[in-house]
Amino acid sequence: MPAPGQPYLSGAMDATDPELFREVFGRFATGVAVITSAGSGGAGGMTANALCSLSLDPLLALVCFENRARTLPIVREAGRFAVNLLTAEQERLAGVFASKLPESEKLDGVAHRSEHGIPVIEGSLAWAACELEELIAGGDHTIAIGRVIAMGLGDGGPLLWYSGRYHALPPDSGP
Ligand SMILES: Cc1cc2nc3c(=O)[nH]c(=O)nc-3n(C[C@H](O)[C@H](O)[C@H](O)COP(=O)(O)O)c2cc1C
Repeated sequence: MPAPGQPYLSGAMDATDPELFREVFGRFATGVAVITSAGSGGAGGMTANALCSLSLDPLLALVCFENRARTLPIVREAGRFAVNLLTAEQERLAGVFASKLPESEKLDGVAHRSEHGIPVIEGSLAWAACELEELIAGGDHTIAIGRVIAMGLGDGGPLLWYSGRYHALPPDSGP
């Protein structure tokens, strides 16, 4: 990393620097989701932005879980998870689900319903409930591939994550 106040160079830099790696991928603007799940051990969830749609035939989505994330064993045991894409008005929820609050308390006071036994957060921008197809090791993360079994759309503008903080689109950005 360059010293504070020093600009980054556009050329190649130290390819072993984890802080630079964070900075590089922090420039990839994303939406923000909460991944929820519930099994015999209870319900839980975590804020995530390392996710994407993977396949149209069949419909598959992919989420990357840090191996230490407490939501991962819930997903592994339940064999199901939901992707809840957040609206800009749900920034507080992003904070709750990014925290280490006891897993059993994270959904307390959060309006949600059950879809195929998976908690789906009310008021989300969009959601997809998935049956877990595969878990793949990826360094200190685990890639979960889920087959979509239900999905839906809500209203509002997206909560965004860029350069280490939350953002919202300017008013009247559509759709
Ligand atoms: C904007 C944002 C995006 C995040 N994306 C991910 C992610 O994709 N995967 C992940 O494992 N953790 C991600 N995290 C960190 C988790 O939300 C955090 O470690 C959380 O405490 C995990 O909760 P759990 O231990 O209850 O599962 C993200 C945090 C924030 C604020």
